[in-house]
Amino acid sequence: MSLSRRSFTGCLLTLPAAVRAQSGPLKARVKIDTERVIGEIDPKIYGNFIEHLGRCIDGGIFEEKSPLSDSDGYRKDVLEAVRKLNVTNLRWPGGNFSSNYHWKDGIGPRDQRPPRLEMAWGTVESNRFGTHEFLKYIELLGTEPYICANLGTGTWNDAQQWVEYCNSKEDTEMTRLRKKNGRSEPWKVTYWGLGNEMDGPWQMGHRSAEDYGKFALEAAKLMKWTDPNVKLIAAGSSNFGPGADWTGWNRTVLEYLKHHADYLSLHRYVGNADNDYYDFLASSVDLSDKIETAEGIIRASLSGEPRNRKIYIAFDEWNVWYRARGNAQRGRRILEEHYNLEDALVVATFLNSFVNHAHIVKIANMAQLVNVIAPIFSNDKGLFLQTIYYPLQLFANNTKGKALDLLVDAPKYKTKRFDEVSYLDASAGYENGALVLNVVNRHKDQPIDADFLLEDKNFSGAVSVTEVNGPDLKSENNFDSTTVRSTGKSATGQGNTLRYRFPPHSYTMLKARLT
Ligand code: AHR
Repeated sequence: MSLSRRSFTGCLLTLPAAVRAQSGPLKARVKIDTERVIGEIDPKIYGNFIEHLGRCIDGGIFEEKSPLSDSDGYRKDVLEAVRKLNVTNLRWPGGNFSSNYHWKDGIGPRDQRPPRLEMAWGTVESNRFGTHEFLKYIELLGTEPYICANLGTGTWNDAQQWVEYCNSKEDTEMTRLRKKNGRSEPWKVTYWGLGNEMDGPWQMGHRSAEDYGKFALEAAKLMKWTDPNVKLIAAGSSNFGPGADWTGWNRTVLEYLKHHADYLSLHRYVGNADNDYYDFLASSVDLSDKIETAEGIIRASLSGEPRNRKIYIAFDEWNVWYRARGNAQRGRRILEEHYNLEDALVVATFLNSFVNHAHIVKIANMAQLVNVIAPIFSNDKGLFLQTIYYPLQLFANNTKGKALDLLVDAPKYKTKRFDEVSYLDASAGYENGALVLNVVNRHKDQPIDADFLLEDKNFSGAVSVTEVNGPDLKSENNFDSTTVRSTGKSATGQGNTLRYRFPPHSYTMLKARLT
């Protein structure tokens, strides 16, 4: 990231009171240089996640015997809504569930698979959705699979044989089993997680950083020796609570795994439990801090290594999640958050942060896809799209190519956690002359007039605009009405300038052609 964006302090004003005192609409300036590039946006930052948890898989994407499902049990209406999200990789089977998942329980004839006590979320796992069902879903979606291996109660052999079952072409007991179960060609699953949140005491098979590092290293060796093409994601720390040594965990784990891991996994969930809108809307500032700190740790761990040895960040669980939480949250109808407009704005700012760290964040997975802290909410009769669906859909379908390093000069505000938060939060993708700008106006009741100034190009005229907004911050969607959604607008760029007024509490995507 260049010095210019980070070090720029020429904000117009710094305090909300001062901002209110200013006459007329708030003003901002965004300078854009198509040669000032942060990095290539990896499409895999628009990934998602399905876990055997509540009604995400069973009762979400998969509902055998439902009239809305196909003959294999996949919900057709859900699949259609998922397709429109352009999910670029799908993580499975957990989450916490993966730490006691024994994949051989989930293969073979469905009616003969063993039901098992599921301890992460307090249910019984039927095992009717397993490796074949997941990878078939991947094919239906046309996306990339990402399997999280059980490094909790699982063994090195379990992890190695799962890779062999999915990827090997050799004639072995595992590949014979795969063929017997109806799949002759290997699936070639590239992305494999070395466990989930192994730093958390809540995790089955939780270990110290040293114990995890040593254990994961042996699993990693066997997995890569089985298939040298696999990419491995080490379980970084997501335990950011007071007293948790998340940086220490990451340092230690990377010492063991720096020659084998390709990504370090981070997770982040945020919420607005104390109803402090402005502080909640600033959550992505903290996200960006975590990304930059983790990047520093990765760089330090690789300092003695050849320059082409790379480890990236996989932000493989992220979302707003605070209402449907707690230890009592066990069973089937759990983690069913209903999202509102302010949650959708936070989601847009998280996506801005991933784009603005495109050089290091190469995988990200919203958690989760359906019903469980999810953009899609279904029941046995249909579904509705939650507020957070819209920003994710817009980013995933449009923001690609090179992430540009924008200079954003906008009024700022202060919260209990942050001294300076820009009212305007932005990111940009640039590909083949097409510029996509993503802009959140965090102000709850004032519009912002922004000038976008191209430093090395011109706007070719019409700019297509899509806005996600709603009647008020707490507006939600449900089965009967969609109050928060995207609506089309328009704008015109003249010469090197585009002027646009961003309404309060809005996320806007602007698409322009440059000459
Ligand atoms: O996504 C819900 C849970 O949050 C996942 O199972 C776990 O990894 C995280 O703590």
